[in-house]
Amino acid sequence: MNKQIVLTGIKPSGTPHVGNYFGSLKPAIEASGKGTFNEFFFIADYHALTTVKDKDQMAFLVKDIACTWLACGLDPKKSVIYRQSDVPEVFELATILGNVTPKGLMNRAHAYKAAVAANSEAGREGDHGVNMGLYTYPILMAADILLFDTNFVPVGQDQKQHIEIAADIGAAINAIYGKVLTIPKAQIDEATAVVPGLDGRKMSKSYGNIIPLFAPPQELLKSVKSIKTDSSAVGDPKPLDSLVFVLYKLFATADQTRAMEEKFKKGIGWGEAKAELFDVMNFKLSPMRDRYNYLMANYLEVENILRDGATRARTAARQTIARVRAAIGVD
Ligand code: TRP
Repeated sequence: MNKQIVLTGIKPSGTPHVGNYFGSLKPAIEASGKGTFNEFFFIADYHALTTVKDKDQMAFLVKDIACTWLACGLDPKKSVIYRQSDVPEVFELATILGNVTPKGLMNRAHAYKAAVAANSEAGREGDHGVNMGLYTYPILMAADILLFDTNFVPVGQDQKQHIEIAADIGAAINAIYGKVLTIPKAQIDEATAVVPGLDGRKMSKSYGNIIPLFAPPQELLKSVKSIKTDSSAVGDPKPLDSLVFVLYKLFATADQTRAMEEKFKKGIGWGEAKAELFDVMNFKLSPMRDRYNYLMANYLEVENILRDGATRARTAARQTIARVRAAIGVD
Protein backbone atom coordinates (compact mmCIF):
# COMPACT_ATOMS: atom_id res chain seq x y z
CA MET A 1 0.00 0.00 0.00
CA ASN A 2 1.16 3.53 -0.69
CA LYS A 3 2.26 5.62 2.23
CA GLN A 4 -0.29 8.09 3.53
CA ILE A 5 0.46 11.70 2.78
CA VAL A 6 0.60 14.35 5.48
CA LEU A 7 0.95 17.98 4.45
CA THR A 8 1.01 21.23 6.31
CA GLY A 9 1.79 24.83 5.49
CA ILE A 10 2.65 27.96 7.42
CA LYS A 11 1.80 31.41 6.20
CA PRO A 12 4.83 33.66 6.77
CA SER A 13 2.96 36.58 8.27
CA GLY A 14 4.87 37.20 11.51
CA THR A 15 7.85 36.10 13.50
CA PRO A 16 7.31 32.71 15.21
CA HIS A 17 6.50 32.88 18.92
CA VAL A 18 6.34 30.53 21.89
CA GLY A 19 2.63 29.85 21.18
CA ASN A 20 3.44 28.73 17.61
CA TYR A 21 6.15 26.48 18.97
CA PHE A 22 3.98 24.52 21.40
CA GLY A 23 0.79 24.86 19.36
CA SER A 24 2.05 23.73 15.98
CA LEU A 25 5.82 23.52 15.37
CA LYS A 26 6.69 21.07 18.14
CA PRO A 27 3.72 18.68 17.65
CA ALA A 28 4.20 18.65 13.86
CA ILE A 29 7.92 17.99 14.12
CA GLU A 30 7.53 15.33 16.80
CA ALA A 31 4.94 13.53 14.67
CA SER A 32 7.20 13.71 11.62
CA GLY A 33 9.92 11.41 10.34
CA LYS A 34 8.23 8.26 11.61
CA GLY A 35 8.51 6.52 8.25
CA THR A 36 4.83 5.60 7.92
CA PHE A 37 3.94 8.81 6.12
CA ASN A 38 5.27 10.95 3.34
CA GLU A 39 5.44 14.43 4.72
CA PHE A 40 5.31 17.78 3.06
CA PHE A 41 6.01 21.03 4.92
CA PHE A 42 5.78 24.22 2.97
CA ILE A 43 5.97 27.96 3.39
CA ALA A 44 2.79 29.50 2.01
CA ASP A 45 4.39 32.69 0.75
CA TYR A 46 1.72 33.46 -1.85
CA HIS A 47 -0.91 33.19 0.88
CA ALA A 48 0.96 35.85 2.84
CA LEU A 49 0.64 38.22 -0.13
CA THR A 50 -2.89 39.09 0.99
CA THR A 51 -1.35 41.15 3.80
CA VAL A 52 2.45 41.37 3.34
CA LYS A 53 3.07 44.00 0.67
CA ASP A 54 6.65 45.01 1.50
CA LYS A 55 9.28 43.05 -0.42
CA ASP A 56 11.96 43.13 2.25
CA GLN A 57 9.48 42.05 4.88
CA MET A 58 8.28 39.19 2.67
CA ALA A 59 11.83 38.00 2.05
CA PHE A 60 12.64 38.20 5.76
CA LEU A 61 9.52 36.35 6.92
CA VAL A 62 10.10 33.45 4.52
CA LYS A 63 13.71 33.15 5.64
CA ASP A 64 12.64 33.39 9.27
CA ILE A 65 10.12 30.52 8.97
CA ALA A 66 12.52 28.28 7.04
CA CYS A 67 15.29 28.73 9.61
CA THR A 68 12.84 28.31 12.50
CA TRP A 69 11.55 24.98 11.21
CA LEU A 70 15.04 23.62 10.72
CA ALA A 71 16.25 24.98 14.06
CA CYS A 72 13.32 23.31 15.81
CA GLY A 73 14.39 19.95 14.41
CA LEU A 74 12.57 19.38 11.15
CA ASP A 75 14.69 16.93 9.14
CA PRO A 76 14.86 17.71 5.42
CA LYS A 77 15.97 14.15 4.68
CA LYS A 78 12.79 12.74 6.13
CA SER A 79 10.30 15.41 5.03
CA VAL A 80 9.94 17.51 1.91
CA ILE A 81 10.37 21.18 2.82
CA TYR A 82 9.65 23.73 0.13
CA ARG A 83 8.35 27.16 -0.73
CA GLN A 84 4.89 27.29 -2.28
CA SER A 85 6.06 29.85 -4.86
CA ASP A 86 8.67 27.35 -6.14
CA VAL A 87 5.95 24.92 -7.19
CA PRO A 88 4.01 26.54 -10.07
CA GLU A 89 1.77 23.48 -10.38
CA VAL A 90 -0.03 24.82 -7.29
CA PHE A 91 -1.19 27.84 -9.25
CA GLU A 92 -2.22 25.83 -12.28
CA LEU A 93 -4.35 23.60 -10.10
CA ALA A 94 -5.83 26.63 -8.30
CA THR A 95 -7.00 28.04 -11.66
CA ILE A 96 -8.68 24.75 -12.51
CA LEU A 97 -10.28 24.44 -9.07
CA GLY A 98 -11.75 27.94 -9.30
CA ASN A 99 -14.05 26.65 -12.02
CA VAL A 100 -15.80 24.12 -9.82
CA THR A 101 -15.88 26.31 -6.70
CA PRO A 102 -19.26 27.93 -6.00
CA LYS A 103 -18.90 31.64 -5.26
CA GLY A 104 -21.25 31.12 -2.32
CA LEU A 105 -18.73 28.76 -0.73
CA MET A 106 -16.20 31.61 -0.67
CA ASN A 107 -18.83 33.96 0.78
CA ARG A 108 -19.14 31.59 3.73
CA ALA A 109 -15.40 31.31 4.46
CA HIS A 110 -14.56 32.59 7.97
CA ALA A 111 -11.84 35.10 7.07
CA TYR A 112 -13.93 36.74 4.36
CA LYS A 113 -17.04 36.79 6.57
CA ALA A 114 -15.02 38.37 9.38
CA ALA A 115 -13.78 41.11 7.04
CA VAL A 116 -17.34 41.82 5.87
CA ALA A 117 -18.61 41.87 9.46
CA ALA A 118 -15.85 44.30 10.51
CA ASN A 119 -16.75 46.58 7.60
CA SER A 120 -20.43 46.54 8.44
CA GLU A 121 -19.62 47.33 12.08
CA ALA A 122 -17.59 50.31 10.92
CA GLY A 123 -20.39 51.44 8.58
CA ARG A 124 -18.37 50.70 5.44
CA GLU A 125 -19.32 48.86 2.30
CA GLY A 126 -19.03 45.07 2.89
CA ASP A 127 -16.15 44.40 0.51
CA HIS A 128 -14.11 47.44 1.52
CA GLY A 129 -10.40 46.52 1.60
CA VAL A 130 -11.09 42.92 0.54
CA ASN A 131 -8.78 41.80 -2.28
CA MET A 132 -9.28 38.71 -4.43
CA GLY A 133 -6.32 37.04 -2.72
CA LEU A 134 -8.29 37.08 0.51
CA TYR A 135 -11.55 36.11 -1.20
CA THR A 136 -10.08 33.14 -3.07
CA TYR A 137 -7.60 32.18 -0.29
CA PRO A 138 -9.45 28.87 0.31
CA ILE A 139 -9.06 27.88 -3.38
CA LEU A 140 -5.31 28.37 -3.28
CA MET A 141 -5.19 26.42 -0.05
CA ALA A 142 -7.25 23.62 -1.63
CA ALA A 143 -4.71 23.52 -4.47
CA ASP A 144 -1.82 23.23 -1.96
CA ILE A 145 -3.49 20.22 -0.41
CA LEU A 146 -5.11 18.43 -3.37
CA LEU A 147 -1.94 18.67 -5.49
CA PHE A 148 -0.16 16.09 -3.33
CA ASP A 149 -2.97 13.56 -2.85
CA THR A 150 -2.88 14.58 0.79
CA ASN A 151 -4.68 12.31 3.25
CA PHE A 152 -4.17 14.31 6.44
CA VAL A 153 -3.59 17.98 7.19
CA PRO A 154 -2.45 18.63 10.77
CA VAL A 155 -3.75 22.10 11.64
CA GLY A 156 -5.21 24.13 14.46
CA GLN A 157 -8.95 24.46 14.98
CA ASP A 158 -8.91 27.82 13.16
CA GLN A 159 -8.02 26.08 9.88
CA LYS A 160 -10.68 23.37 10.05
CA GLN A 161 -13.09 25.13 7.71
CA HIS A 162 -10.34 25.58 5.12
CA ILE A 163 -9.71 21.84 5.03
CA GLU A 164 -13.43 21.14 4.73
CA ILE A 165 -13.59 23.55 1.80
CA ALA A 166 -10.62 21.78 0.17
CA ALA A 167 -12.45 18.46 0.60
CA ASP A 168 -15.62 19.97 -0.96
CA ILE A 169 -13.69 21.35 -3.93
CA GLY A 170 -11.92 18.00 -4.44
CA ALA A 171 -15.28 16.24 -4.32
CA ALA A 172 -16.67 18.70 -6.90
CA ILE A 173 -13.86 17.79 -9.30
CA ASN A 174 -14.43 14.09 -8.70
CA ALA A 175 -18.19 14.44 -9.24
CA ILE A 176 -17.59 15.90 -12.69
CA TYR A 177 -14.51 14.07 -13.92
CA GLY A 178 -14.47 10.78 -12.01
CA LYS A 179 -12.09 9.92 -9.20
CA VAL A 180 -9.19 12.26 -9.93
CA LEU A 181 -8.32 13.75 -6.55
CA THR A 182 -7.78 12.38 -3.05
CA ILE A 183 -10.11 13.86 -0.44
CA PRO A 184 -8.17 15.23 2.56
CA LYS A 185 -9.06 15.27 6.24
CA ALA A 186 -8.05 17.76 8.93
CA GLN A 187 -6.05 16.32 11.81
CA ILE A 188 -6.76 18.41 14.87
CA ASP A 189 -5.02 17.40 18.05
CA GLU A 190 -7.28 18.41 20.93
CA ALA A 191 -4.42 17.86 23.38
CA THR A 192 -2.27 20.52 21.76
CA ALA A 193 -1.39 23.23 24.20
CA VAL A 194 -3.09 26.59 23.93
CA VAL A 195 -0.34 28.86 25.18
CA PRO A 196 -1.38 32.01 27.01
CA GLY A 197 0.34 35.26 26.06
CA LEU A 198 1.73 38.02 28.27
CA ASP A 199 -1.76 39.28 29.14
CA GLY A 200 -3.36 35.87 29.72
CA ARG A 201 -5.29 35.70 26.46
CA LYS A 202 -4.23 33.13 23.83
CA MET A 203 -0.74 34.05 22.59
CA SER A 204 -1.32 35.65 19.21
CA LYS A 205 0.31 38.22 17.02
CA SER A 206 -3.04 39.96 16.63
CA TYR A 207 -3.29 40.51 20.42
CA GLY A 208 0.26 41.90 20.62
CA ASN A 209 0.98 39.61 23.59
CA ILE A 210 3.64 37.30 22.19
CA ILE A 211 6.96 36.04 23.47
CA PRO A 212 9.20 35.69 20.39
CA LEU A 213 10.78 32.25 20.10
CA PHE A 214 14.32 33.27 19.22
CA ALA A 215 14.69 36.73 20.68
CA PRO A 216 18.13 37.39 22.23
CA PRO A 217 18.27 36.51 25.97
CA GLN A 218 17.99 40.13 27.21
CA GLU A 219 14.83 40.57 25.17
CA LEU A 220 13.43 37.26 26.36
CA LEU A 221 14.07 38.35 29.95
CA LYS A 222 12.27 41.63 29.31
CA SER A 223 9.27 39.73 27.92
CA VAL A 224 9.18 37.40 30.92
CA LYS A 225 9.34 40.34 33.33
CA SER A 226 6.34 41.92 31.61
CA ILE A 227 4.07 38.90 32.23
CA LYS A 228 0.97 40.04 34.07
CA THR A 229 0.73 38.84 37.69
CA ASP A 230 -1.55 39.58 40.65
CA SER A 231 -0.51 41.89 43.48
CA SER A 232 0.09 39.21 46.13
CA ALA A 233 3.24 39.67 48.22
CA VAL A 234 6.17 37.36 48.90
CA GLY A 235 4.97 34.65 51.29
CA ASP A 236 1.41 34.59 49.91
CA PRO A 237 0.65 31.30 48.11
CA LYS A 238 0.67 31.86 44.38
CA PRO A 239 -2.06 30.50 42.10
CA LEU A 240 -1.02 27.52 39.96
CA ASP A 241 -3.13 28.78 37.10
CA SER A 242 -0.95 31.87 36.90
CA LEU A 243 0.74 32.53 33.59
CA VAL A 244 4.18 32.20 35.12
CA PHE A 245 3.44 28.65 36.24
CA VAL A 246 1.62 27.65 33.04
CA LEU A 247 4.62 28.74 30.96
CA TYR A 248 7.07 27.19 33.41
CA LYS A 249 5.36 23.80 33.06
CA LEU A 250 5.70 23.90 29.26
CA PHE A 251 9.47 24.38 29.43
CA ALA A 252 10.50 22.54 32.57
CA THR A 253 11.04 18.84 33.32
CA ALA A 254 8.51 17.00 35.50
CA ASP A 255 10.87 17.22 38.50
CA GLN A 256 11.41 20.94 38.07
CA THR A 257 7.66 21.43 37.75
CA ARG A 258 6.97 19.56 41.01
CA ALA A 259 9.60 21.61 42.84
CA MET A 260 8.18 24.85 41.46
CA GLU A 261 4.67 23.83 42.48
CA GLU A 262 5.91 23.57 46.08
CA LYS A 263 7.51 27.01 45.85
CA PHE A 264 4.27 28.46 44.51
CA LYS A 265 2.34 26.98 47.45
CA LYS A 266 4.92 28.38 49.86
CA GLY A 267 4.64 31.85 48.40
CA ILE A 268 7.65 32.41 46.15
CA GLY A 269 7.91 36.07 45.11
CA TRP A 270 6.89 36.93 41.56
CA GLY A 271 10.34 38.33 40.78
CA GLU A 272 12.05 35.11 41.78
CA ALA A 273 9.45 32.96 40.00
CA LYS A 274 9.98 34.94 36.81
CA ALA A 275 13.75 34.60 37.10
CA GLU A 276 13.34 30.82 37.34
CA LEU A 277 10.95 30.85 34.41
CA PHE A 278 13.49 32.73 32.34
CA ASP A 279 16.14 30.15 33.24
CA VAL A 280 14.12 27.14 32.05
CA MET A 281 13.02 28.95 28.91
CA ASN A 282 16.49 30.07 28.03
CA PHE A 283 17.93 26.62 28.74
CA LYS A 284 15.51 24.99 26.31
CA LEU A 285 15.58 27.71 23.68
CA SER A 286 19.26 28.58 23.53
CA PRO A 287 20.50 25.56 21.49
CA MET A 288 17.66 26.09 19.02
CA ARG A 289 18.35 29.83 18.98
CA ASP A 290 22.02 29.18 18.21
CA ARG A 291 21.06 26.93 15.34
CA TYR A 292 18.56 29.52 14.11
CA ASN A 293 21.18 32.29 14.21
CA TYR A 294 23.63 30.05 12.38
CA LEU A 295 21.14 29.27 9.62
CA MET A 296 20.08 32.91 9.26
CA ALA A 297 23.76 33.82 8.82
CA ASN A 298 24.40 30.93 6.41
CA TYR A 299 21.17 31.08 4.47
CA LEU A 300 22.68 29.50 1.37
CA GLU A 301 22.45 26.14 3.17
CA VAL A 302 18.75 26.70 3.73
CA GLU A 303 18.21 27.82 0.15
CA ASN A 304 19.73 24.58 -1.04
CA ILE A 305 17.38 22.62 1.20
CA LEU A 306 14.38 24.55 -0.12
CA ARG A 307 15.51 24.09 -3.72
CA ASP A 308 15.92 20.36 -3.22
CA GLY A 309 12.51 20.26 -1.52
CA ALA A 310 10.92 22.05 -4.46
CA THR A 311 12.41 19.53 -6.89
CA ARG A 312 10.99 16.65 -4.89
CA ALA A 313 7.64 18.36 -4.44
CA ARG A 314 7.38 19.11 -8.17
CA THR A 315 8.01 15.47 -9.05
CA ALA A 316 4.89 14.54 -7.11
CA ALA A 317 2.98 17.63 -8.28
CA ARG A 318 3.58 16.96 -11.97
CA GLN A 319 1.94 13.56 -11.70
CA THR A 320 -1.21 15.01 -10.21
CA ILE A 321 -1.34 17.81 -12.74
CA ALA A 322 -0.93 15.34 -15.60
CA ARG A 323 -3.84 13.32 -14.21
CA VAL A 324 -6.01 16.41 -13.81
CA ARG A 325 -5.16 17.72 -17.27
CA ALA A 326 -6.07 14.38 -18.80
CA ALA A 327 -9.31 14.33 -16.87
CA ILE A 328 -10.41 17.79 -18.01
CA GLY A 329 -9.32 17.17 -21.61
CA VAL A 330 -6.29 19.46 -21.98
CA ASP A 331 -3.43 16.96 -21.99
N1 TRP B 1 -3.94 29.01 5.99
C1 TRP B 1 -2.88 28.43 6.78
C2 TRP B 1 -2.61 29.37 7.97
O1 TRP B 1 -2.90 30.54 7.92
C3 TRP B 1 -1.61 28.26 6.00
C4 TRP B 1 -1.78 27.29 4.87
C5 TRP B 1 -1.77 27.60 3.54
C6 TRP B 1 -1.96 25.88 4.97
N2 TRP B 1 -1.97 26.47 2.80
C7 TRP B 1 -2.08 25.42 3.63
C8 TRP B 1 -2.06 25.00 6.05
C9 TRP B 1 -2.29 24.06 3.37
C10 TRP B 1 -2.26 23.64 5.78
C11 TRP B 1 -2.38 23.18 4.44
O2 TRP B 1 -2.06 28.93 8.95
